[in-house]
Amino acid sequence: MSKKVSVWTDNRFWQRSAAWVTGFAAMLLIWLTFDSMGQIAMGTDNDLQNGVTKRVPSPSVINYKITYEMSDKRGHEVPVIGEKETFFGRDDYSEEEARALLNLGKLAVQAKNCMNCHTLLGNGAYYAPDLTKAWLDPMWDGYMARLGKDTKEEAMAEFLQFPSENPSHGRMMPNLGITAEEAKGIVAFLKHMSSIDTNGFPRNFSKMQGAIHGK
Ligand code: HEC
Repeated sequence: MSKKVSVWTDNRFWQRSAAWVTGFAAMLLIWLTFDSMGQIAMGTDNDLQNGVTKRVPSPSVINYKITYEMSDKRGHEVPVIGEKETFFGRDDYSEEEARALLNLGKLAVQAKNCMNCHTLLGNGAYYAPDLTKAWLDPMWDGYMARLGKDTKEEAMAEFLQFPSENPSHGRMMPNLGITAEEAKGIVAFLKHMSSIDTNGFPRNFSKMQGAIHGK
């Protein structure tokens, strides 16, 4: 006499379900991987010249003005790449020159271990402010006037070389022995980072007075 077994206690049922779920999850992860790779692929100088928006623009975005604007459609701020502007008194860095400058900045950021105190794109420590959108911090305007510098990049480079002589917050950043050339690279690196569309990250940035264009 065969006993009727409920499907829920049948081993074969669970084995098959596990195989299907694993298979489906693997396909989904592969698809998501390719989707993300497309989303984070760096744009080119041609994209910038033709107004093609990429989440991660070409390094030559340092040749352009970057603002931060509220997108009602997306419900958060997005970086907007505007007209051309000079960077350290120069215009039109080629893509190679801009990439070299960014690399110098990235190496300095790694060598000086900025992530010991700061976060970059959310990674790092929480002692000091997140640097993802530091370039767009309205604080630099007042800072320029205070240091008698004509441009934001010069004010930022001066801060990076001598932060404890020119504190902007109550909590101070130590002098890390950053050279003028490294400071220039770091400013390029941070300017580029601010142009990355991070889906509105970091959230608290928008609460800063004057950080969002037109508010
Ligand atoms: C020992 C901790 C520490 C390290 C390491 C450090 N910082 Fe800072 N940084 C701070 C603190 C604290 C502040 C806030 C004080 C201020 O603005 O005067 C700050 C502020 C800043 C600001 C201004 C941010 C803003 O928009 O208000 C920038 C830009 C910056 N740091 C960049 C860097 C870079 C680049 C490095 C690595 C080369 C670095 N920091 C390493 C502690 C640190």
